[in-house]
This record gives sequence, C-alpha cells and structure tokens, in this order.
Amino acid sequence: MRDELRQSEKRRGPRGEASANGFASSLIPHPSSLPALTIALPKGRMQDEALVLLKRAGVEVDSEELASRRLAVEDVSGRYRFVFVKPADVPVYVEHGIADCGVVGRDVLLESEADVLQPLDLRISRCRIVVAAPADARQNEHGMLHVATKYPRIAAAHFGARGVPVEIIELSGSVELAPVLGLADCVVDLVETGRTLADNGLGVVETITESTGRLVVNRASYQLKSGAVAELISALSAALEGGAGEA
Ligand code: PRP
Repeated sequence: MRDELRQSEKRRGPRGEASANGFASSLIPHPSSLPALTIALPKGRMQDEALVLLKRAGVEVDSEELASRRLAVEDVSGRYRFVFVKPADVPVYVEHGIADCGVVGRDVLLESEADVLQPLDLRISRCRIVVAAPADARQNEHGMLHVATKYPRIAAAHFGARGVPVEIIELSGSVELAPVLGLADCVVDLVETGRTLADNGLGVVETITESTGRLVVNRASYQLKSGAVAELISALSAALEGGAGEA
C-alpha cells in the first residue's frame, strides 16, 4: 500500500497534476511554455494557401509536422499553435475561444451564425457562390424551385429576398449531381475554377456573392491578447502588401 502511494506521488507534479509518466501532464503544458495564440486552420482547399501566406508573414510550420497526421502542431518559433479542423468548424472553435484566431472563407462565415471578429481579408482562395443549373433547364411549371446546396442559409436568404418559393435540399457534398440525377432543379454552390460545373453539364445562372479567406478573431482574445493578435494582423498585412495573398 505504501509502495502504491509512493508510486502515485512519483507520478504527480508539484501542484498535484499527473507528471511525466501520467496522462494529464502531456495534455496540460506549463503556462510559461504555452504558445501566444492558437489558430484554427481549415483542412482542404484553403489550407495550403493559408500556410503559404503565414510563411510569408514569418510564421512557419515544420514540413515534417505538416506531413504528419497530427491535428495540432506548433510553428517553428513556438509562438503559435495550429489546429486543423473542417472549414465549417473554424468559426465554432474561434467563437468558443478554443482557438484565438482562425482562417476561413467568407462563404463559411455567411452560412455560420458565429459571433467572431473579421479584421482582415486574406485574399486567398477567391471563389463565388452561384446559382447554377443544367444548360437545358426549363422553367419550373409549378413555381416551387428545388435547390440543392451545402449553404442552406445563403440559398434561403437569396431566394427569400426575391420572393421565389423554394424547397432547400441540404447536401454535404457533390452538390452538382443533384440536378443531373433529378433531385433538384438547380444548386447554390461554390465555384472556383468552374470545372466541376462544366464537367457535370451545369452553367452559372447568377452570382450571389464573392468569397475569399478571412482572418477571424475571438472577441475576448482580441482584448486579452491584444499584443499578440495585433502582431499577427500586422505580419499578415505586411505579407499581403508584398503580394503574398494574390493568386
Ligand atoms: C467545392 C464546390 C464545388 C467545387 C467547385 O466542392 O462545392 O463542388 O468545389 O470547384 P471548381 O469550381 O474549382 O471545380 P469541394 O471540392 O469542396 O468538395 P465537396 O463537393 O465534397 O464539398
């Protein structure tokens, strides 16, 4: 029993947290070693452009870390911790303060109801949100338009503002298939190169809005970590002025 107690004491640090051999110590870094900011980056199409821009801003992640499947990594200076999450989850992590900052498309922000600050247009991953339909589409005789989309709020607001009655069919991907297979009359979707639309026989009917990647910041972090946030914004702004964000 006494041996067990000693073993248990050995596993605990000076403040009672589990230590080197324990579980918690690897999850709770010592405060002095904490990175200044945690930044949520979107996995997928925007990730590489965001990392290139950050590198131009002097914030670099080791290539071995990037090649790994780790979802949380630090930059080489140890000042920033990056967490890689689904694009739609970036505003969620930032709004809840788990991440101080994030990089995310305006399309995602318009669809999200997250209360986050948007201090900087990063001018990366430029794309459009459009209404698209098969080239040979005919007017819907019954008046009700069936719209397939990953953006139900943007689509509802767009058609609602025009007084067009719609049924929104929410999908999570491969939206262009919906009109081809008869699930919907048209889609509201993101277009970057236009290739997916063209290859599936769809054409743009109308552009709803344009989108680029934005820096978002948690409201509390903007106040409480103002120095670190201002430093990041200024480094990214300087990189943008140098043309880092241009396609
Ligand atoms: C997006 C979007 C289009 C495609 C447009 O989908 O929803 O399908 O990219 O890109 P393009 O104009 O360059 O062809 P994504 O690649 O994110 O995959 P998903 O359909 O699974 O959501």
